[in-house]
Amino acid sequence: MKILILHGPNLNLLGTREPEVYGAMTMDQINAKIIELGKELGAEVKCQQSNHEGALIDALHDARTWADGVVFNPGGYTHTSVALRDAISSIQIPVIEVHLSNVYAREEFRYQSMISAVCKGKIVGLGWRSYALALRALIEMIHEK
Ligand code: DQA
Repeated sequence: MKILILHGPNLNLLGTREPEVYGAMTMDQINAKIIELGKELGAEVKCQQSNHEGALIDALHDARTWADGVVFNPGGYTHTSVALRDAISSIQIPVIEVHLSNVYAREEFRYQSMISAVCKGKIVGLGWRSYALALRALIEMIHEK
C-alpha cells in the first residue's frame, strides 16, 4: 500500500508560520510522524509539498500511477482552486482533505472548500493529528475495497 501526503502553499513554513494557529511542529516533523504511523499500519508514505498550483496538479496526476490514495492539505488553494478540484475528480484514487486549523472558526472565506465535494472525506482542526487520522481512515477504506 502506497500513500501520498501532499502539502500545498506555505505549509513548508510550519513551525514558524502563525504557530498559535498551525502549531509548533515543522512540516518535516509532521512528515516523520506520518511516515512512522504509515509503517505501523503497513503503508509506504511519500510526502511532497509545493507552493505552486500546477505542481500540485502534476503531483495528483502522478499519484494516479503509483499511489493507492492521497492525504491532501491544499492550504489557501482549498478556497479558490477549480483546477485542483478537477484534478482530484480526474484521478481514480481516493483523496482525503485535511486542515491543521479549524477553518470554520476562522474568517468566512475559509468556510468554502472547492475540493470537499470530490474528496472521500475531510478532517479539520486537529493540528498534525488531522493528517494522522486521515491516514488511518484512508488505509482502512482501501483495505475494505
Ligand atoms: C490550512 C487552512 C487554510 O485556510 C490556509 O490557507 C492554510 C492552511 C490548514 O491546514 O489549516 O494555508 O489549509
